[in-house]
Amino acid sequence: MTVSQQVFLRDAMRRLNLTRDIFAVRIGVKRRALDTWLLPEGSQEFRAMPEVVNRFVTEIVENEGLLQKYAQSAQSGPLRDRIAADGKHQLLSVDQFTRESVEELFRIADQMQPIARRQKVSRVLEGAVLGNLFFEASTRTRVSFGAAFCRLGGSVCDTTGFTFSSMAKGESIYDTSRVMSGYVDAMVIRHPEKGSVAEFAQATNIPVVNGGDGPGEHPSQALLDLYTILTEFSRLGKLLDGAHIALVGDLKYGRTVHSLIKLLALYRGLKFTLISPRGLEMPQYILEQTGKHGHVIQQTNSLEEGLVGADVIYATRVQKERFSAEDLEGYTPDFQVNKAIIDKCCGPDVIVMHPLPRDSREGANDLSVDLNHDSRLAIFRQTDNGIPVRMAIFAVLLGVESLVQHSLRDVTWSPPSHIGPDDSVFHGMD
Ligand code: CP
Repeated sequence: MTVSQQVFLRDAMRRLNLTRDIFAVRIGVKRRALDTWLLPEGSQEFRAMPEVVNRFVTEIVENEGLLQKYAQSAQSGPLRDRIAADGKHQLLSVDQFTRESVEELFRIADQMQPIARRQKVSRVLEGAVLGNLFFEASTRTRVSFGAAFCRLGGSVCDTTGFTFSSMAKGESIYDTSRVMSGYVDAMVIRHPEKGSVAEFAQATNIPVVNGGDGPGEHPSQALLDLYTILTEFSRLGKLLDGAHIALVGDLKYGRTVHSLIKLLALYRGLKFTLISPRGLEMPQYILEQTGKHGHVIQQTNSLEEGLVGADVIYATRVQKERFSAEDLEGYTPDFQVNKAIIDKCCGPDVIVMHPLPRDSREGANDLSVDLNHDSRLAIFRQTDNGIPVRMAIFAVLLGVESLVQHSLRDVTWSPPSHIGPDDSVFHGMD
């Protein structure tokens, strides 16, 4: 087997679109055995899958004609050509993806997991330099893109804020982009204006990634959100097709939800409940685009009404920085996602997500901290997934994804067995 057992099995389940329970029945093994085969290698309860199971799973996938389907898409060129925009290797919008191509990216993200978890090292991007240009505040996106590039052996140069860039002296997007192209091999850009990152991309031939363009899109966030939902659903024995997704909060200015709803719309038969304060509803053009896929879309201003029966609750912060002063209105307390309302409206296997940062200031009424020790809260598993997904994005855009598997070496120190004290409930689980 050229890929790890975990990557192989996850990929097979995605292609066959089967839950773990159904997949275990299909291949004639106990769910518990399958769970141990799906653990990361090196975790305490990991077990090697018998060779006969490997052959059997390969046969099932082949018989379904799925290998041919994927082989056909592979023959139509590398993934970076199939997701290219304007003939360039860039990531500006989730509109560049199909369900097949997004799942192909997730297969690569799965392969990145041992490197992301700091158990393996790869140097496939040795010599390459990333330019991280962030003209708006960021912690996760800037640092995780940088960390992802370093994990693949590259190095990072960055500039943060207008004040410390020559755009403060009136330099244009075109000049900035052209200058940076001579210094670096790829750029991640965050900018407060919608469409500005596409403008950067027009001025260069190196890969450009949209790290958030004002109220426009945040495609890498949506990709890691979808990857998180699929991973959590796999653990819970659920399929995304037919699921009920509640998007909560500032749906007008929240670019993460704009990208996420479009990406989720690639799946089948979803029910979206869009819950927002008055005046912060999802833009019409996104509703129309999502509606074309035949999903059910409901809109409400009542949190309690909207959360009933949800499989995923995706809460967002009020984007106060995008409001004019007279419009400024945050969440009222009855808009806060907290333990009481989740216990009242949702089941034990709901997952609660948030792109973060959450506004912890008094009166903000953003996602409550009273869920911090509740295993339904997936926000830190979500942020952890930012690394493998962003590694996969770089590997694809720079055309090195096929080199990763053979480049892996063991780390020379002892990586942490799990990342934070609150994660212990999921230690060893995948
Ligand atoms: N989710 C997100 O974009 O976080 P940052 O603003 O910290 O990058």
